[in-house]
Amino acid sequence: MARQLLIIGAGGHARELLWLVSRIQGHLDHVRVAVEAGWAAPREIDGIAVEPLDAYGSRLAGVDYVVAIGDSRARERVAGRLDAAGATAAILIDPSVQRSDRVEFGPGSVVCAASVLTCDIAIGRHVHINAGCLIHHDARIGDFATLSPGVRIAGHVEIGEHAFIGIGATIINGRPGSPLRIGPGAVVAAGACVCRDVRSGVMVAGVPATPKG
Ligand SMILES: CC(C)(COP(=O)(O)OP(=O)(O)OC[C@H]1O[C@@H](n2cnc3c(N)ncnc32)[C@H](O)[C@@H]1OP(=O)(O)O)[C@@H](O)C(=O)NCCC(=O)NCCS
Repeated sequence: MARQLLIIGAGGHARELLWLVSRIQGHLDHVRVAVEAGWAAPREIDGIAVEPLDAYGSRLAGVDYVVAIGDSRARERVAGRLDAAGATAAILIDPSVQRSDRVEFGPGSVVCAASVLTCDIAIGRHVHINAGCLIHHDARIGDFATLSPGVRIAGHVEIGEHAFIGIGATIINGRPGSPLRIGPGAVVAAGACVCRDVRSGVMVAGVPATPKG
């Protein structure tokens, strides 16, 4: 019997992942959707009932899962809960994604439609790469980072864990041995053009991007 895929979350990203899964396997058989207690959620999405995660109990062992939660700290907490229960983080890559065989993906990572990842790229655990992202050579994307739709990353760039890159942002290239670094937990605003390192936890915006707030 095929393994179950459990999507945690029932919002817009979960619906996008259901579309992604239907594009991979042609149907949504064996796909379940669950949310933690206390999360506002519809009763069903795309015809699939939204179940309480608590009801799974020991049935989580042996289940494949992805966490469809935008907030990276919540994503990490929920992933830790699922890992501890014996579930296995799946990697979902839309069939339209263009990539070389020199791209590594950490467990739980998701790459949405029309993204392009060239070569010598390391994607961490539970990274969300939304539709239409371009990631070029010698890039490292840290665990639980989020790339919003249409993010463009040039060569020799490192993005720290839990960093959030807003829709349409551009990160220019670093140099061999001296990558452009976006620190852990940094936020890059929508449409920004990052031309120099961004420190940990700092929000930058604009063209060229400068610290805000
Ligand atoms: C950067 C961002 C996170 C800031 O959100 P916020 O903390 O709520 O900040 P505010 O809206 O209060 O704005 C703070 C300041 O930054 C400015 N600002 C916000 N977003 C900006 C942007 N994208 N570019 C330039 N300036 C921006 C605001 O004008 C404001 O400036 P002011 O203090 O001079 O008035 C948000 O605006 C953003 O860009 N989010 C990305 C959304 C996205 O990509 N969604 C896709 C999800 S898949």
